[in-house]
Amino acid sequence: MSDEVLCLEKVTRCFREKTAVREVSFSISKGEVVALLGPNGAGKTTTISMILGLLKPTSGEIKLFDHQPDEKKVREKIGTMLQEVSVMPGLKVREILELIRSYYPQPLALKDLVNLTGLTEQDLRTRAEKLSGGQKRRLSFALALAGNPELIIFDEPTVGMDITSRNRFWETVRTLANQGKTIIFSTHYLQEADDAADRILLFKDGAIVADGTPEQIKARIAKQSVSFIVDPEISLESLFLHSEVVDIYRKNNRVYVQSNNTDRVLELIFQEKLGAHDIQIEKGKLEEAFEQLTSGTKEAM
Ligand SMILES: Nc1ncnc2c1ncn2[C@@H]1O[C@H](COP(=O)(O)OP(=O)(O)OP(=O)(O)O)[C@@H](O)[C@H]1O
Ligand SMILES: [Mg+2]
Repeated sequence: MSDEVLCLEKVTRCFREKTAVREVSFSISKGEVVALLGPNGAGKTTTISMILGLLKPTSGEIKLFDHQPDEKKVREKIGTMLQEVSVMPGLKVREILELIRSYYPQPLALKDLVNLTGLTEQDLRTRAEKLSGGQKRRLSFALALAGNPELIIFDEPTVGMDITSRNRFWETVRTLANQGKTIIFSTHYLQEADDAADRILLFKDGAIVADGTPEQIKARIAKQSVSFIVDPEISLESLFLHSEVVDIYRKNNRVYVQSNNTDRVLELIFQEKLGAHDIQIEKGKLEEAFEQLTSGTKEAM
């Protein structure tokens, strides 16, 4: 398939007895903006390092533009900004950018790099080691884009950015995506993944537990329910028989019927003539559900 930029097949990476990434499979097509979303230690950085050819999988296969990740021809097509920002000391920002641009066959113009990343004239004249944390991020963003890459990979790109830089960063990501670039980024924040990505790969304990559009992921984790008051003597068995009903529980005198289709549950409640009253639809708190899902508790999805 010519549109396929990246493909992982049953990729596993172990560090001694620890399995950091477990049988992860997915493929990404040209132009997609994909978030790797998950809590600390979920395996995002390990996955990214393997995609970049910095770490070898213990087993499984990774194809980048139909080649191995460590081939030079492939590496030229990739730009990256890693979790740990390190910059070359002693050189001015402009000099570093010119140097890195010179490594690539078709680099972006310095003017474009400046426009895309928000580096200022002042930044360009500054020695790298004197930049603030946020300015260093801008530099490393510019370095990621220097080779005019087709695939851009960011590990936790907005950590340490203020709101303005953050907004500007995501705006640029949108611009790049509209130019047909493929973008992969990792984040802890559902909100950020939702705002910026077309697709979310949800990581937990080294595995992908969900893969879909932000809408799909949200629908899946935000458990909706219909709650009502009913005579405690009434049996609710009949509700369980319907496939739309995920779970039923009682809390503070109310019955909660969990389902992704609350309209259907309302129908069922009347159909089964339960005599329910004070009926409410609970939309489920997304962030809460996300935290529950990604925290230690074993919660089936
Ligand atoms: N070099 C290593 N040696 C041993 N264990 C490692 C190594 N790198 C990662 N791990 C372990 O693998 C697991 C996944 O780590 P990884 O850095 O991929 O997570 P992450 O999703 O990027 O987390 P964070 O959000 O904190 O950056 C963790 O349990 C981590 O301790
Ligand atoms: Mg990480």
